[in-house]
Amino acid sequence: MNADQQRWDPDCYRCWAAYVPALGRDVMGLLDPRPGERVLDLGCGDGILTAHMAACGCNVLGVDRDAGFVKATRQRGLSAVQADARHLLGLKLWAGSFDAVFSNAVLHWIPEAAAVIANVRRLLRDGGRFVGELGGAGNIATVRQALHQALHCHGIDAASRDSWFFPTADGYRHLLEDHGFQVTEIRLFPRPTPLPGPLSQWLDTFAATFLDGLDPATRQAVVDEVSKRTASRLCNADGLWTVDYVRLRFRAVKLG
Ligand code: BEZ
Repeated sequence: MNADQQRWDPDCYRCWAAYVPALGRDVMGLLDPRPGERVLDLGCGDGILTAHMAACGCNVLGVDRDAGFVKATRQRGLSAVQADARHLLGLKLWAGSFDAVFSNAVLHWIPEAAAVIANVRRLLRDGGRFVGELGGAGNIATVRQALHQALHCHGIDAASRDSWFFPTADGYRHLLEDHGFQVTEIRLFPRPTPLPGPLSQWLDTFAATFLDGLDPATRQAVVDEVSKRTASRLCNADGLWTVDYVRLRFRAVKLG
């Protein structure tokens, strides 16, 4: 089981994960989208931030691996194509044509970071910028550790189900530089994030690779165990869960 098997339901996402694009607005500030620019939104999700770039006057193309997300983005009247960031084969025609590639809360699902960065470089014009944010080193560490422990208790190997990629700032900087980018900004910072519901809902939405394929009773037991192990650190007296997100935010420019 790997991140390829993470599935998305645009309706659930809208309900339980609306904070993901909402918090991505800050990253948009670092992109500084300008009217007339051609921008690719890599991992556009349901297109909320894609729509924001379009409203700024950009000629924006959304890309997502998930067909439901592509449909949801198109329903906003935006252009979107289904493609995998590791290949982007269908976008070959557009090589060198983008002023910017933007990505929010997507790159941590793809351990093949070098392939993604090489593809982004191919799509950008010289001087074009790659701006994004992903989970960084230490991201959701409390939940991740509890998932490993709970699965281990049931004799299940969590490592083979864990393909989250949370790089350090130095590690990601080097990857970008090795692929011909100049890094103008890169920053790792904690962003404790209140959830709109219980941790069990978060696990259903974001931890499918750990939980899918378990029989229903085992799945429920693992979810309960993770909630129990993390509650003292992540849940307050009013029952509000706050997850220990850590973000890695960067801006890099393609060198000619
Ligand atoms: C995030 O950092 O946005 C994230 C990473 C893995 C699972 C869920 C969210």
